[in-house]
Amino acid sequence: MTEVIIVQHADEAGRLVADAITALAERTPAAVLGVATGSTPLPVYRELAAGAGSGLLGGLSAFALDEYVGLAPDDPRSYHHVIHSEVTLPLGLDPSRVHAPSGDPGTLSTAGARYEQAIAAAGGIDLQLLGIGVDGHLGFNEPGSSLASRTRVKTLTEQTRRDNARFFDSPDEVPMHCITQGLGTIREARHLVLLAFGARKAAVVAAAVEGAVSSFVPASVIQLHPHVTVVVDEAAASELRNVAYYRHAQQHKPDWQGL
Ligand code: PGA
Repeated sequence: MTEVIIVQHADEAGRLVADAITALAERTPAAVLGVATGSTPLPVYRELAAGAGSGLLGGLSAFALDEYVGLAPDDPRSYHHVIHSEVTLPLGLDPSRVHAPSGDPGTLSTAGARYEQAIAAAGGIDLQLLGIGVDGHLGFNEPGSSLASRTRVKTLTEQTRRDNARFFDSPDEVPMHCITQGLGTIREARHLVLLAFGARKAAVVAAAVEGAVSSFVPASVIQLHPHVTVVVDEAAASELRNVAYYRHAQQHKPDWQGL
């Protein structure tokens, strides 16, 4: 089932998804969370941080989707660092249980397999947070990525490098390569929660949720997963065709059904 939830504001999405993660931590204190970088998941992390005092989240493990190649883990622009400051510290997670793929150029040939092994050793990912790129990427799986791909090194598109230039002093500094969980890896998470906000994401949300499943729109791989929740604001939902049904299903959602 691909459930589409339309919210009025990103903060509402943040509360909704944070509640689902908190409920997961209540049920399974040692649950494994898949975390994403970028601006989209920040309202979720803010909400979770606000409740972190309870200590409920302290037993969670987390795996990031991706990392740049060639940035040291303590480089503020590396995803190791971003996850540490946006997720690990504010949520009170144990740093030894928070992981990101290694972008160390010296060990890249084995980094993908090592990351896959680490995810498997943790028992797999229970809930994977996902943003979506305007080019349809999921993680850093750019258009053309195999729907069966595993964690590996990819070349970033110029679109993605431009989009991410805001985190660097100049666009040229954005690394050319990354290491990312594959679409096949992401598909193995037990619950996918994809968030998108703003009109800029409207076309790609419609393509991913309602278009053909295609490696040309990597995020369309979510349609092959049995448990997906897409949370979008009105602007990001504006090009969905089946929107009346999504609202209807939301209104009549059975009490027993969680996110
Ligand atoms: P954003 O990035 O959350 O900053 O829009 C999403 C993505 O590129 O996957």
